[in-house]
Amino acid sequence: MKVVLDMDPGIDDAMALLLTLNNSRLEILAVTTVSGNVNVDKATLNALKIIEAAGGRCGQAPVYRGAGRPLNKRRHPVYSEDIHGRNGLGNVDPSPRLRAKEEKTSAVDKLVELLSSHKKKEISIVATGPLTNIAMLLQREPSAAKKLNQLYIMGGIYDNGLTKGNVTKHAEFNFFCDPEAAKIVIDNAERKGLSIIASGLDITSTSACAIRNDELGMICSIRSKIADIACKILQYPLRNYSFFNLHDVFALFSLLYPEIFRTQRCRVRVYTSGRHRGKCVVSYGNGNVQVNRQVNSVRFNKYLLDGLA
Ligand code: BDR
Ligand code: CA
Repeated sequence: MKVVLDMDPGIDDAMALLLTLNNSRLEILAVTTVSGNVNVDKATLNALKIIEAAGGRCGQAPVYRGAGRPLNKRRHPVYSEDIHGRNGLGNVDPSPRLRAKEEKTSAVDKLVELLSSHKKKEISIVATGPLTNIAMLLQREPSAAKKLNQLYIMGGIYDNGLTKGNVTKHAEFNFFCDPEAAKIVIDNAERKGLSIIASGLDITSTSACAIRNDELGMICSIRSKIADIACKILQYPLRNYSFFNLHDVFALFSLLYPEIFRTQRCRVRVYTSGRHRGKCVVSYGNGNVQVNRQVNSVRFNKYLLDGLA
């Protein structure tokens, strides 16, 4: 499967990247970066460092810098360094003598190029940061909505108020950071036929899938290069909190293991301003957004450990 990862690494993004690098079913066409957990300079550096530390060959996963600010230029970037550490990777440097360099092409230019040089429905995107790059792609190249196979996203909340947001009462981080981008992307599902599979905070916060000290111990006992990196970067959030949710891994696993999720179709409206900024209002029944509503946590945890081995 040909895939682009659009991300803001970030510890859980880094986990999704490690699991992708170690999966022979996936061919990574590009890793595109975006401002989110940390600024885009750090996000780009982190992607390069994770790939190199994991033993990624040059060209196995080329990295393209994306948006450094939200779509609406009046908005300021919002970061999440309290959770992910100042450098975004729990203040661990997985690759102190980094040799790899980012590509010269911008993220959106690369996405446009990839979609025009591949067959329709050949490429899927797993987007685990604010949706700025994806919205820019859809604005520049409206036909991208139909050319893409699937867009897997981590973002939003889809249970109409039952789950509390992680930035405000109503909003999940990625949708809060760039609500205009989230709205453009979600509206493309309804209006332009973009097929979205969404994992929102309501599922990614599933307690049985969270990492606690026991799970960290299991990860640290796996003898592999990528488990070693995971073990180091996961220490930071677990020093400050009793658990850590691997939000972004849900987006990747819904591509790799759709059978472990129960999904439901819906229409989604994203709010962009005021105290409802980033909030989703969802009507289930039909619609072009498929939302992951339940996960088999036993299999999720098994695939996580297997994937790191
Ligand atoms: C999302 O916000 C970020 O902090 C995580 O990387 C994840 O993508 C969860 O709300
Ligand atoms: Ca993320």
